[in-house]
Amino acid sequence: MKNTITTLKAQKEKGEKITMLTCYDYSTAKLMEEVGINTILVGDSLGNTMLGYDDTLQVTMEDMIHHCAAVSRGINDILLVCDMPFMSYQTSVYDAVVNAGRLVKEGHANVVKLEGGVEVCPQIEAIVKASIPVCAHIGLTPQSINSFGGYKVQGKTEATAKKLLEDALAVEKAGASMVVLEGVPAALAKHVTEKLSIPTIGIGAGAGCDGQVLVYQDMLGMFSDYVPKFVKQFASVGEVMKNAFAEYKKEVENSTFPSEEHTYAIDDEVIEKLY
Ligand code: KIV
Repeated sequence: MKNTITTLKAQKEKGEKITMLTCYDYSTAKLMEEVGINTILVGDSLGNTMLGYDDTLQVTMEDMIHHCAAVSRGINDILLVCDMPFMSYQTSVYDAVVNAGRLVKEGHANVVKLEGGVEVCPQIEAIVKASIPVCAHIGLTPQSINSFGGYKVQGKTEATAKKLLEDALAVEKAGASMVVLEGVPAALAKHVTEKLSIPTIGIGAGAGCDGQVLVYQDMLGMFSDYVPKFVKQFASVGEVMKNAFAEYKKEVENSTFPSEEHTYAIDDEVIEKLY
């Protein structure tokens, strides 16, 4: 069954949890499709995980389109959400609509995601009016890292908790189809989830959200630059990869790879004629 913004909303209504993972390439997308993940986020976290930047601020529209299109070729039923990179929507409502359109037309995204609450509602309204569904992202929004002064949990005081709820209600009113809650205390995320009719997808926001998202390299144990508290490593793929690379190195160096099994044959007479 094709996942859409409508099926995700139905999942919320039925109390069925929504699964989202980040993904940035064709082969990994195919694996996620095979196990029936509901939705993929081509996150601008690709700046960290794929491109080795310190933050997401340098990621471009071209980066997002390139990776989103690759993921789109590996999936059928998964709903494809693509991040709008820093400065692709903050500059004006016009820029927001044009760039959201590019993510759909060139990247084949079904939904675009942008960071911010009340302050980006004009952008959300305009993108939705252009028939492009929007996923909002509030709480710890990594594109605001310089304003926050670091990756800090948001909404811990009465004032900031009220602001988070106000942002959540505002993005819903502006037409967002879902909202990512990042780095928010669990009880606050649960309260926000109960107040909204659109699904909430949590990352570092506890079990009370309608769904969860993790960066796939984090949950596979592939990315060791830093491991946030909210990450559960479901596998040690980094170790598996390192062992395979080391084994390959050893076998090439001692000439046990390639063996006959991995080699193409040719008739001896053909070779003899070359001498
Ligand atoms: O870019 C990203 O991967 C994200 C998730 C952390 C929600 O925005």
